[in-house]
Amino acid sequence: MSVVVMWYSVLFSFILLHSARGQVSYSIPEEMAKGSTVGNIAQDLGLDLQRLRLGKARIYTGDSTEYIGLNKDTGLLLIKEKMDRESLCAKTTPCALHLQLILENPMELYTITVEITDINDNPPTFQKKRIHFEISESAVTGARFMLERAVDADVGVNGLQSYSLKPTDNFVIEQQLKASGDKNVEMVLQRPLDREKKGVITLLLTATDGGDPQLSGTVQIHVTVLDVNDNAPVFTQKEYKATLTENAAKGTKLITVSATDADEGSNGQVTYYIASTEDIVQNMFIIDLHSGEVTLNGLVDFERANHYELDIQAKDQGGLSDSCKLIIDVLDINDNKPVINVLSMSSSVSEDSTPGTVVAMMKVDDADSGVNGQIHCIINDNFPFALTSPSSNFISLRIEQQLDREKDAEYNISVTCSDQGVPALSSSASLSLQISDVNDNAPVFEKTNYEACVLENNTPGLSIFSVKASDADWNQNARVSYILEDSTVNGVSVSSYVSVQPDSGLITAMRSFDYETLKHFHFRVKAQDGGSPPLSSNVTVKITVQDQNDNAPQVLYPVQTGGSVVAEIVPRAADVGYLVTKVVAVDVDSGQNAWLSYKLQKATDRALFEVGLQNGEIRTVRQVTDKDAVKQKLTVVVEDNGQPSRSAVVSINVAVADSFPEVLSEFTDFTHEKQYNDNLTFYLVLALAAVSFLFITCVVVIISVKIYRWRQSRFLYQSNLPVIPYYPPHYADTGVTGTLPHGYNYEVCMTTDSRKSDCKFSTLGGQNVLVVDPSFTETMQHTIKKNNDLEGEYSTSNI
Ligand SMILES: *[C@@H]1O[C@H](CO)[C@@H](O)[C@H](O)[C@H]1NC(C)=O
Ligand SMILES: *[C@@H]1O[C@H](CO)[C@@H](O)[C@H](O)[C@H]1NC(C)=O
Repeated sequence: MSVVVMWYSVLFSFILLHSARGQVSYSIPEEMAKGSTVGNIAQDLGLDLQRLRLGKARIYTGDSTEYIGLNKDTGLLLIKEKMDRESLCAKTTPCALHLQLILENPMELYTITVEITDINDNPPTFQKKRIHFEISESAVTGARFMLERAVDADVGVNGLQSYSLKPTDNFVIEQQLKASGDKNVEMVLQRPLDREKKGVITLLLTATDGGDPQLSGTVQIHVTVLDVNDNAPVFTQKEYKATLTENAAKGTKLITVSATDADEGSNGQVTYYIASTEDIVQNMFIIDLHSGEVTLNGLVDFERANHYELDIQAKDQGGLSDSCKLIIDVLDINDNKPVINVLSMSSSVSEDSTPGTVVAMMKVDDADSGVNGQIHCIINDNFPFALTSPSSNFISLRIEQQLDREKDAEYNISVTCSDQGVPALSSSASLSLQISDVNDNAPVFEKTNYEACVLENNTPGLSIFSVKASDADWNQNARVSYILEDSTVNGVSVSSYVSVQPDSGLITAMRSFDYETLKHFHFRVKAQDGGSPPLSSNVTVKITVQDQNDNAPQVLYPVQTGGSVVAEIVPRAADVGYLVTKVVAVDVDSGQNAWLSYKLQKATDRALFEVGLQNGEIRTVRQVTDKDAVKQKLTVVVEDNGQPSRSAVVSINVAVADSFPEVLSEFTDFTHEKQYNDNLTFYLVLALAAVSFLFITCVVVIISVKIYRWRQSRFLYQSNLPVIPYYPPHYADTGVTGTLPHGYNYEVCMTTDSRKSDCKFSTLGGQNVLVVDPSFTETMQHTIKKNNDLEGEYSTSNI
């Protein structure tokens, strides 16, 4: 025990573990420096230094390295080679060197045991600098990953004590004591991995021992999180919209859809598909497998489909997918013309159809939409029709104004419909509409009135002229027939004078006319069409009978008797120019035919008397002398101016005497004519009465005519016919004896035909007017006749 105490006092800590006979133990820490003292073997074994020296004491270590040597002089055991417990004993504890101290003389053997105690000279160490793990992100929590253990060469408390792992987000460290006593170090997944969040995790594993100071060793753990296809592709939008104009070219790019996949590699490789099942849609659009670009693969027609919905799928290689909708709106372009369908159409309408009557119904369609499909229809300008639209797309063609077949018998109506697109498209339809006739036009005569001249003494059956009326209607409605309207002429039906051919309008004379009894007459001819009911109009036809010189002049005075005893008395004192008497003659003809001239045909003394050529006055031409015979006989011939002319002869007795008895005596030879005188007196009175009556009537008529003329003057100036007032030369007898004043008029007849003469003569209100019809260019033949209404009476009274 005393030895133990002694060793405790030594600075270097060594322990004498065991001291027994021939055996000694020491305990020293490892890594003591060379030369350090392990123990005083001499003292511990109770040997003196002499003995050591003499006994040639030596340490026997066998083959192994001599770590400890013996200093024979001091008897101390010294460190000869530095000792590392770990290399000497590794984990074996206790670690001891067994030495033999051999002495000679006498041979003695002592066993020395040197126990080498551990010092914390080794940190825990990991064999690898780095540890790599590849862990799928799908690893479930609790998954364990064996870690390499650290090695600490030291033993006991200096050996490896604990591990720690940082950071601890996903993993914790767990140590498990194995049956063998070893500790398993494991990394346990505590929270699931997400490669998409953190693909690589770096951890630091630290191993610490229990020495003082504590030593530690670290190793980096690289965890590569392996991808698992745990993310489906995701479209950036749930719904895409694109617009496309119709008729866009094939290959037009529409839109690019895009989906992202958080996974990597093939798990993140997205491919695109169109998922729509309809074939049409499938073929209409294609999507690029990789880029997601949608392009047009067909022809879109707005009119067939204006909206497409495509389901687009994005898939990764792991089979996860997402889908989105692509809505494609097709924009209309004006590529369709309006189409006009005539639903019903009347081929003809009656001209008396009331406005508003529908003649055609049409349906107009335009496949385009919006303004491109808005239709507006028009028809020809100035047509009496209008379009109305009873409902959309239906249009009806109506009569707007009263129709008149006589103006337009047929209409080619062009209906043009155009849409409102830009540019507008249009189409048109042509409708042909016949207007059927209605008997709405009466026949119309070519002239407002007809006049014709007929030479008297015509042959019955003479064609005079034709009236003509036209009817604007059609066919039967325009078939005109002519009818003579019944009236009377001089108390006899006009049909005994003239007749009218129903279909030609030819007027023929039914009898021979006599100018002296009928100078003119008029009647009405009716023109009637064949419509039902028929329409008619009538016209006045005036026939003027033209005079022929068929009457000789008649001598009214002096009255001719069988044996004339009447004599004119000429006083012997009569001057030159003394009016003996006046021959009064009339001619019932008119005009030239009644223009009388007087000539002295025979005379007892031609030098004594003369006859006024025109007035029939018999005057003396020289002074009467006593030598002149009392009894003078004159013969005067009265001639008219007709062709050929007719004449009458009158004989006049003239007595040149101063007294009646003288005359009587001279004219005794006249007495046998006495019975004739009674007659003569009667005729003379009758003639005088007639002349007086004519004169008074003339005056009355002239005054009436003057008044009437004054009234009509305004009407004449308003007439639109070229009017030339025509004042015929008045042949007025203003002779001393106051014989009849005669008004002469010239009636103008323009003859185109010797038989059918057409008189352009008009007596308007008593004023004589020549109406010049420009259509008449034929030669004009003038006939002069006495004009006035008196004439008829005049003539009558002379019959
Ligand atoms: C209408 O058209 C027809 C046939 O094209 C033609 O014969 C006729 O003359 C036309 N009528 C009018 C009034 O244009
Ligand atoms: C003849 O026509 C006139 C109108 O021009 C008419 O007033 C008259 O009644 C007609 N006469 C007959 C008999 O039809």
